[in-house]
Amino acid sequence: MRKTIYLTTVLLAVGVCIFQLCPADAAEPAATQLTCILGAFDDELTLLYQALTDPKEEVLHGIHFASGKMKGRSVIVCRSGIGKVNAAMVTALVIEHYRPGEIIFSGIAGGINPDLRPGDIVMAAKTAQHDFGTLTIEGMRVDGTKSAVTWQRNPVFLEPDARLMALAEASGKRIKLADIETGKGKRHPKIIKGIVVTGDVFVASPAKAAELRKTLGADAVEMEGAAVAQVCRDLGVPWLVIRSISDGADANALQDIDSFTALAAKNSAELVMDIVAHLAGQAARETIGK
Ligand code: ADE
Repeated sequence: MRKTIYLTTVLLAVGVCIFQLCPADAAEPAATQLTCILGAFDDELTLLYQALTDPKEEVLHGIHFASGKMKGRSVIVCRSGIGKVNAAMVTALVIEHYRPGEIIFSGIAGGINPDLRPGDIVMAAKTAQHDFGTLTIEGMRVDGTKSAVTWQRNPVFLEPDARLMALAEASGKRIKLADIETGKGKRHPKIIKGIVVTGDVFVASPAKAAELRKTLGADAVEMEGAAVAQVCRDLGVPWLVIRSISDGADANALQDIDSFTALAAKNSAELVMDIVAHLAGQAARETIGK
């Protein structure tokens, strides 16, 4: 009898130790029901923070993570900071600490496709880092990055999770964004699937915009998306990048971004919130179906 009690105690102690050594693994099943939403700066996140019910804040290494419910789904909303290094750091941190089921980036971008105007949305069907490559006498040749995990070369273009993109497309057809006053009458914002390129430069140059359009087929340019995508690819987390146009990446870009950031951030956030609502709906249906 005493031997049985002793053995049971030892087994329980070992079990507790294993549980404490592997908190991430223990948290995994529940964490797949958690969505992380990133934005580079506060203006991109205002509406998303406001949409949180029962918000709580945690600070890790000086980065603020807001958690709560959004449209019935558990979410983490976090400001990544501007540029690829900040975005990569915060993406890795959020994955390691919270194990989200997916990461969605919401924000603004410079429009490169001439059909796009402020407030229009590009759902990234592909992202690439336009400043990673080889500078030759012919100019910039964009190369795929190399995975730090596998040491294999990544493709130049990374593609988002197909399920998230399908949800985004459905949301794009469903949501009713407000018409935009243009001075020449109202127009309805366009929502397209397109190519979003990322680099550590704010593009305010028609020549650079034309080059990005010609060499990469870019529809929009920003400073974080492909970095988030690369980290998610290496760490096995589904991702999606949603961007709304704030400027034309041209000589007026620095003035336009001031005028149109609020509109663009709002349109992007509204699409992302609709996607989150449908992730919540899907999760609820899966639970009932079990
Ligand atoms: N984000 C918004 N507009 C941008 C631009 N023109 N270049 C890079 N990132 C941007």
